[in-house]
Amino acid sequence: MSHHQLPERWATKLGVILAVAGSAVGLGNFLRFPTMVAQNGGGAFLIPYFCALLLIGLPLMWMEWTFGRYGGLFGRHTLPGIYDVVAKGRRWVKYLGVLGLFVPFIIVVYYTYVESWMLGYSIFSALGHFSRITETAGFGDFLGSYLGAKDGQPMSVPTWAALFLLITLLANFYVIWRGVSRGIEKLTRIAMPLLFIFAVILVIRVLMLPNAFEGLAFLWKPDFSRLGDVKVWLAAAGQIFFTLSLGLGAIIAYSSYLGPKDDVAKSGLSATAMNEGAEVLLGGSLAIPAAVAIFGIVQTTQIAQGSPVALAVITMPAIFTKIPLGELFSTLWFLLLFIAGITSSVSLLQPLVAFLQDELGWTRRQAALTLLLVTAAYLVPVVLWQQFFIDDMDFWSNNILLPLGALIEVLIFAFIFGIHRGWDELKRGAEMHVPVIFKYILLVVTPLYLVVLLGVWAVQEGWAKLTLQGIEAAHHPYIIASRVVMGVIFLAMVLLLRVAWQRQRAGKVPRPTPHPDHADIPCGMS
Ligand code: ALA
Repeated sequence: MSHHQLPERWATKLGVILAVAGSAVGLGNFLRFPTMVAQNGGGAFLIPYFCALLLIGLPLMWMEWTFGRYGGLFGRHTLPGIYDVVAKGRRWVKYLGVLGLFVPFIIVVYYTYVESWMLGYSIFSALGHFSRITETAGFGDFLGSYLGAKDGQPMSVPTWAALFLLITLLANFYVIWRGVSRGIEKLTRIAMPLLFIFAVILVIRVLMLPNAFEGLAFLWKPDFSRLGDVKVWLAAAGQIFFTLSLGLGAIIAYSSYLGPKDDVAKSGLSATAMNEGAEVLLGGSLAIPAAVAIFGIVQTTQIAQGSPVALAVITMPAIFTKIPLGELFSTLWFLLLFIAGITSSVSLLQPLVAFLQDELGWTRRQAALTLLLVTAAYLVPVVLWQQFFIDDMDFWSNNILLPLGALIEVLIFAFIFGIHRGWDELKRGAEMHVPVIFKYILLVVTPLYLVVLLGVWAVQEGWAKLTLQGIEAAHHPYIIASRVVMGVIFLAMVLLLRVAWQRQRAGKVPRPTPHPDHADIPCGMS
C-alpha cells in the first residue's frame, strides 16, 4: 500500500481462502508428505500427524488469521509491525518479529530454485524428451546435467536451467508486483482449481495401474510400533508446520488484507481442510503408490528413504515412461508441482514486500523490484554451491528458526496481546463456533509442544550441525560461507527494522495508517 492510496484488500472471500490454501498446498503436500508417511510407520503416522494438526496446526492457523486481521486494522502486514502495535511502547518487542521476514526469505530463495526445476521438467516432458530415456539411472544423469554437477566447484549450470530459474523468478515477482487482489488473488483463483483438477486426473491414472492397491496398502499399512519413537512425533509436527505455511509470517500477511469484520474462524478452517485434502487424499495417493505399482515394494522402500525431490524428478518420470501417454501425465505431474510451488512462493515474498511498504513507505513496485534484485543476487551462490547451501539453509530455517518464530508468536499472542483478548478477536465476525478448548490448547499445549520440538531438534541435530560434525573438512568453507551470508542477511534485516522505526519517529516516513473502518471496531478490541 502506498500511503496515498486506499489500503489493499482481497476482492472476495473465496479469494483469500484460495490464496491461503495456495500458500499451504505446495511441494510439501505431494513430495514431503508421502515420504514422511513411508518413513514413519505408514498409516500409523496419521495418529501423530492429526494430533499435531489439532494441537498446533489448527490453533496456530486461527491465531495467525486473527493476528493478521488485527494488524491490518493498523495498516501493518508483517510480524514486526504487528508486534509493535501490541507491544504498548516496548520497543524491543518488534525485533522479535524479524524472524517473520528472515525465515520466509531464506526459504523462498531455495524454494523458487526447486520450483524452477518443475517448470523445466514440465517443458522437457511436453517436448517428449523423457520418452527417450529408458533406464531409471538415465533420469539421475539428466538431473545431474540439469543441476550442472561436475567434479570440483562451482556447479556448471546450463544456460537453459538458469533461464527456467529466471522465468520462475520473474513470474513470482510479476504476481507480487500486481498486488494482493490483482496479483495473488487472480493467480490463485485460476491456479488452485487447476491444481486440484491435475491432481485428481493423476490420482485416477495411478489408481488404474494394475498394482495400484498394493501401492496404497504399502504406503498406508500401519506400523504401530513406530509410535514409541519420539522422532516420529516430531516429524509429524514438522510436517504440519511446513505444509500449513505456519510460523513464517505468510498467513499473517495474507489475513492482514482482510476487512475488520471479515470472518477468520471458518476461513482458516476451510483453508486448512483444503490443504489436508490435498495432502492426505491426493498427495498420499500419488508418488509412492505409483512407485510400488511400477517398481515393486523392495525398490520403493529404498526410494522412500531417499529425498522427496528425487521422488519427483527421478522416480516419477521413470514411472511415466512405462505407461501409455506417459508424456502427457508426466507434463501434468510437473505442472502440478510448479503450480503448487508458485502459489506457495508468492506467499513467502509477500511479508517482505509488505514490510518495505508499511515500514519504509516504499511503493509496492519499488519494493517488489528491490526484492527481485536481492533474491536474484542471493540465488547466484545458492545455485553455484547448491550441494552445500541448500540443505543448510533448509535445516536452520525450517527445523530451528521456524518453530522458534512460531513459539515467539504464540507467546506474544497469549501473554502480551492477551489470550482472552485474542480469543475475542478470533470470535469477532466468526461464521462458526470455535470450541473454547482451543483457547486453552493455544495457551498451554501449543507452546509446550513447540518447546519440546525445538529443544529436541536443537539438541539432537542442531549442535552436530553447528559444529559441522560428519561433514568432510573440504566442504567446511562452503557451509561456513553459507552461514555467513545468512548471518549478514539477518543482521541487515535487524538494522533495517531499526532504521525504519527511526525514520518513522523522525517523521521522515509516514507511520502506517490505520484502516478507515477502524473506528467501527469496539474500543476494547483495538
Ligand atoms: N506450505 C508449503 C508446502 O507445503 C510451503 O510446500
